[in-house]
Amino acid sequence: MKISPIAASALAVLSFAALGCSRLDMQDQPKYRPQRPSQFFADGRSERQPVEGTIARGTLDEDTAFYQGKDAAGKDIEAFPIAVDKKVIERGQQRYDIYCAPCHGRIGNGLGMIVRRGFKQPPSYHIDRLRQAPVGHFYDVITNGYGAMLNYSAQVEPRDRWAIVAYIRALQYAENANINDLPQEARSRIPAAGTAPSKAQQSEPIAPNDTDFSNFPAVPATPSGVPGAAGAGAAPSNQPERK
Ligand code: HEC
Repeated sequence: MKISPIAASALAVLSFAALGCSRLDMQDQPKYRPQRPSQFFADGRSERQPVEGTIARGTLDEDTAFYQGKDAAGKDIEAFPIAVDKKVIERGQQRYDIYCAPCHGRIGNGLGMIVRRGFKQPPSYHIDRLRQAPVGHFYDVITNGYGAMLNYSAQVEPRDRWAIVAYIRALQYAENANINDLPQEARSRIPAAGTAPSKAQQSEPIAPNDTDFSNFPAVPATPSGVPGAAGAGAAPSNQPERK
């Protein structure tokens, strides 16, 4: 039998429609669509709460040393939970300069630009208490914040937090280093005590110091009374010191 193409397609549509009406498969199962209400459950939602303690796949952060900086007893850990090498420290420097230096300063003295504009001045990393503080304490401050400082857990992932802590340790070491700790080649680039630095040495700033910031006067339109309006140097913070 020969049928025209038009008749054939009409036949196909008809038979499809007939099948569709009588289908009894999973399409028709009684089920809830996501986010729809329910009269079956007392709380009126179709969604059930996950069983207490449920952990999403891939987020089982069992390693408390790495993820929380604590040991099994909940104390700040003293040793890094990752291997620290030059690459890690350089990564830490880069992250530190982005996320921490605006307040803590490039060398960790607590005189970052935001502080110079009136934010509470953090302690220098070079005070004895923080030089002796365990690495877990620094990790904890980044993860949970500390006093007036908000936490940086959303911006800095755990591995980078450890890299930053490693860099802070490098800053602390550098600030208290002896010239004999430097390789010979680096020693020659530092002016001897009491001598004027050479031109080459001058063009190679080792670290910014306080006077490097005085060329950032506050915008003249800043009303007086606003912290930082007077130009260089932050007015003392009006926030209470954390004990
Ligand atoms: C917006 C400014 C700001 C930024 C950015 C900031 N901090 Fe702080 N930080 C503070 C202030 C202010 C304090 C002092 C808080 C207080 O005592 O109330 C502080 C305190 C600290 C302390 C000392 C805690 C103690 O035991 O006294 C550490 C360590 C620290 N911050 C690390 C970091 C690191 C690491 C970063 C970058 C990831 C960072 N901070 C970014 C403002 C900042």
